[in-house]
Amino acid sequence: SKYHRGVRHLCEGGIERVPRKYVFPVSERPSLDTERSNVCYSSNQTLKLPVIDFAHLQGSNRPQVLKCLANACEEYGFFQLVNHGIPSEVIEEMGSVGRRFFELPYEERCKYMTPDMRSPVRYGTSFNQNRDQFFCWRDFLKLSCHPLPQHLPSWPSNPTDLREVAANYSMKTKLLYLKLMEAILESLGVKETAPTSREDHESDRMARDLENGSQIVVVNCYPACPEPDLTLGMPPHSDYGMLTLLLQDESVQGLQVHHGGRWVTVEPLPNSFVVNVGDHLEIFSNGRFKSVLHRVLVNPSSTRISIASLHSLSFDSTVRPSPKLIDEANPSHYKDTDFASFLHYISSVGHKGKNFLDSRK
Ligand code: SIN
Ligand code: FE2
Repeated sequence: SKYHRGVRHLCEGGIERVPRKYVFPVSERPSLDTERSNVCYSSNQTLKLPVIDFAHLQGSNRPQVLKCLANACEEYGFFQLVNHGIPSEVIEEMGSVGRRFFELPYEERCKYMTPDMRSPVRYGTSFNQNRDQFFCWRDFLKLSCHPLPQHLPSWPSNPTDLREVAANYSMKTKLLYLKLMEAILESLGVKETAPTSREDHESDRMARDLENGSQIVVVNCYPACPEPDLTLGMPPHSDYGMLTLLLQDESVQGLQVHHGGRWVTVEPLPNSFVVNVGDHLEIFSNGRFKSVLHRVLVNPSSTRISIASLHSLSFDSTVRPSPKLIDEANPSHYKDTDFASFLHYISSVGHKGKNFLDSRK
């Protein structure tokens, strides 16, 4: 089958119309499906997500911040994390190297195109070009980060600083993720503050599972689009893992979250991460925390870059609600599933919203 070279390549040739392959069906176009949700909507409606101050979370205000954190994960499935402690140079360098990768000639980028979803490095367009009926306006570079020493040698060597910068970035975001998960487990009440020895083993095991979990850093590139009403940078989807830590372009908005029955744009906040609950965490919390649909709009004037760090359990883990959240009054709402079949499900059905979670018990 013919390989599509992606949106950047398309735009480099100079285009005034969106090619047919990228035109979404009328019912799935951005402006129309907001009108469908009977709520009054203005196209520039923005949403201020709950803001969690990571420094406060580590200090004496922890109990209050944990309540805000739990509330954000229940009501929005999203929050913005400030004072996260990752130095701004680390973040700026990652943004810069991601941008420079997409500015390389196509011949250089396409070396990493592969249909193998499990490849430790994958450059591509849309979601899965072998399966997508119509394409979204997005090119991506995916880097598997765990275990780092195993994957690092297969990452792109051009730009020459990519490996070093992305490795540093991935290690720092992983540590932040682990600290956030510690707080999230505490806010769910599944982490005992004074554990008995048996529970100690259990939380040790959880800590190990999280540490051994998979991490994928995705650099997304959404080129300026001549007809932004006809397509989307990403269709509505939920993320499959535990948490996603997202760096949004500070100057170009595009991310929309489904909240209160409508699509609302997330305002970029400087020096912050947008963090969202994934399907695994929704299952683990037995439905208390929500993995919420989101999508990406494109715009006519600016290329938008975003960097997502996707964190999930390891491939041999079983995804199921925490035993501590289940009793006779609160039965499990989800079927247990192993991660491998979960991923198989995702890659066969695709990112058409929350299909997997809709197969709940
Ligand atoms: C994503 O949903 O993974 C990316 C969102 C974005 O580019 O803002
Ligand atoms: Fe996402």
